[in-house]
Amino acid sequence: MLKPYQRAELNFRQIREIGADGRNSTTHVVHDAQLGAEIVMKTISKARLVNPAEFFDEAKHLYNTAHQNVVQIHYACEDADNIYIAMPFYRRGSVKGMMTAGHLTVREVVKLGCQLLCGVHNIHAKGLIHFDIKPDNVLLSNRGEALLSDFGLAKQMQLGLAVPNGLYVRMAPPEAVAGPPYTLSFDIYQIGLTLYRMLNGNEEFNRQYSRFLMPGGLDRAALGGAIATGQFPDRTLFGEHVPLNLQRVITKCLEPNPRDRFHSALAVANALAEVGHCLDWRPVQDPVRKVWVKLDGNTEKRFVVNGDGSTEFTSTGPGGAPRRKRDLCVQSMTRTAVRKTLKEN
Ligand SMILES: Nc1ncnc2c1ncn2[C@@H]1O[C@H](COP(=O)(O)OP(=O)(O)OP(=O)(O)O)[C@@H](O)[C@H]1O
Ligand SMILES: [Mg+2]
Repeated sequence: MLKPYQRAELNFRQIREIGADGRNSTTHVVHDAQLGAEIVMKTISKARLVNPAEFFDEAKHLYNTAHQNVVQIHYACEDADNIYIAMPFYRRGSVKGMMTAGHLTVREVVKLGCQLLCGVHNIHAKGLIHFDIKPDNVLLSNRGEALLSDFGLAKQMQLGLAVPNGLYVRMAPPEAVAGPPYTLSFDIYQIGLTLYRMLNGNEEFNRQYSRFLMPGGLDRAALGGAIATGQFPDRTLFGEHVPLNLQRVITKCLEPNPRDRFHSALAVANALAEVGHCLDWRPVQDPVRKVWVKLDGNTEKRFVVNGDGSTEFTSTGPGGAPRRKRDLCVQSMTRTAVRKTLKEN
């Protein structure tokens, strides 16, 4: 006999928790007994999802926006307390994790940025606004390509507008001060902020944000004011290795007025693809000096601007001692000359 609804059982064993910084859910590597495989299970408490009609929205959004730059979903299911979303285990973790390990090069930011933008363009084409684009929510495929993840806030647009169930103030665009509804320009701003963070590093972004943390808590009014007037984050801060056209792409994504931003993720990707120099210098964290390193074949190049403004440029071949490039080891150098040195070497 035909039954209108079928219930089925599912067995999986939790192996370990990952992504402990997730606030709305817990994420575990699990062993799925049916598939005989290690996968990731995201567990979302039903108590946190106000409207039962929305219980499976995140799963549906993931399924409907399948793309090579969006995380895959295997299946979704529920029990009395939770919604479960089963995904492949992306062992390389997130772009935020990559940033914790060290600064990214311009090439890495442009490459990951273009991949992320393809994923975002795909979800926009399907009528969704993501509302939570940030380095933690960009995972890396086994081939190291960017995957847009965490559709916990994503919403379908109605006539180009949508209202999220909440938002994170650290990544909020200027229009969040006035409140919803929002357009896909919200995501364009968050792409700009994600690229900004990828270039300038976690520490710098946290340092700027911490200026608004008072003993009594976050000074929301001051932060909102700084976001609305384009003072947070600081657009003047990019390192000298960041090409000016890349800075302009990011600044345009971060324009306080949504109308002044790029109008599509694809337009941002096209502008990013124009960035063609200074690709491989990697900034090295240093309390006093500015330090960049770069591998050129078997040779490691190193450029240092000391605290007193003097500079040091060395090349080290395999097993050899560092060789100084005399004309680039000087008493002082202007920012423009530092930029030129990085561009031409
Ligand atoms: N499939 C996966 N493979 C590997 N790591 C994952 C996977 N899914 C999630 N993670 C890790 O778990 C973290 C939390 O997952 P996710 O972002 O989906 O949840 P969240 O609770 O909504 O997070 P947030 O509160 O930051 O929005 C991610 O930032 C990532 O580090
Ligand atoms: Mg997340």
